[in-house]
Amino acid sequence: TDELSLRPHLLSEYIGQTKLKDEIGVYVQAAKQREEALDHVLLYGPPGLGKTTMASVIANEMGVNIKTTSGPAIEKNGDLVALLNELNPGDVLFIDEIHRLPKAVEEVLYSAMEDFFIDIIIGQGPTAHAVHFPLPPFTLIGATTKAGMLSAPLRERFGIVGHMKYYSVTELTAIVERSAAVFNSRIASSGAVEIARRSRGTPRIANRLLKRVRDFADVAQMDEINAEIVDYALAMLRVDKKGLDETDRKLLTTMIELYDGGPVGVATLAANIGEETETIADMVEPYLMQIGFIKRTPRGRVATAAAYAHLGMKQTNK
Ligand code: ADE
Repeated sequence: TDELSLRPHLLSEYIGQTKLKDEIGVYVQAAKQREEALDHVLLYGPPGLGKTTMASVIANEMGVNIKTTSGPAIEKNGDLVALLNELNPGDVLFIDEIHRLPKAVEEVLYSAMEDFFIDIIIGQGPTAHAVHFPLPPFTLIGATTKAGMLSAPLRERFGIVGHMKYYSVTELTAIVERSAAVFNSRIASSGAVEIARRSRGTPRIANRLLKRVRDFADVAQMDEINAEIVDYALAMLRVDKKGLDETDRKLLTTMIELYDGGPVGVATLAANIGEETETIADMVEPYLMQIGFIKRTPRGRVATAAAYAHLGMKQTNK
């Protein structure tokens, strides 16, 4: 699909996350030289920053297969055994949303990660018996939006921990230009920069905006995507100059109009704007915090002067 061909296959093609890339390059080379499985990797950071992409790049660099699943999809210990059983030595098991693994599954994962075996109890009552499953050496790559939500014992079993950061405008510009080339679309650098500026530091958003802008440009029969068509398309999409969408603005205006700028709790805000608390906490707030529009205080979130200024609202609470 489009989506897949947009993803880089090698570290050398992966744009951004330079510190993590440099580190991983060393660990991959060392593991290959020793003909060992790579140590387990935990990738954490906001959604859309390339955790899944990085996992597949790591598997490619190691020259192994990757099997992908997610925390909530592994309901029983048997599900985990079935997944691990299919791995060849050195393969990667990628568990997205690893903080949502059931507790019982998490506990059997400890021995799987540390010593490559699983002991599980089969049956109940008098016929219950323990079964020992040896496993091939493998690499677990876990991804989570919040490392704080992992239990300490699980977190401590990852030898490599990578913190995915928001991308700079320069990095996002390069990603947009690369993606446009994959689409065979011509894009002026002013157009790429404008998409990059309005993508909230997030490649997934940059690629999504590029696709929509390209639709507008194609319908207008333009032979190149320029800053003007970006501006036009993003106005239609209600994405503002800072890249904030309607949900972002609704959150800020609710904080300001209903709670005088805060402090207000995240669950209260979520209820007010009709979104899940998790969505607000994981997907909306982190970028508003990153750009200094929201601050976290012990009594809740507050909107900053920069947020008032961006929305053109008068601050009456200071
Ligand atoms: N496409 C999406 N994310 C990317 C990245 N970090 N590097 C290159 N291409 C990408």
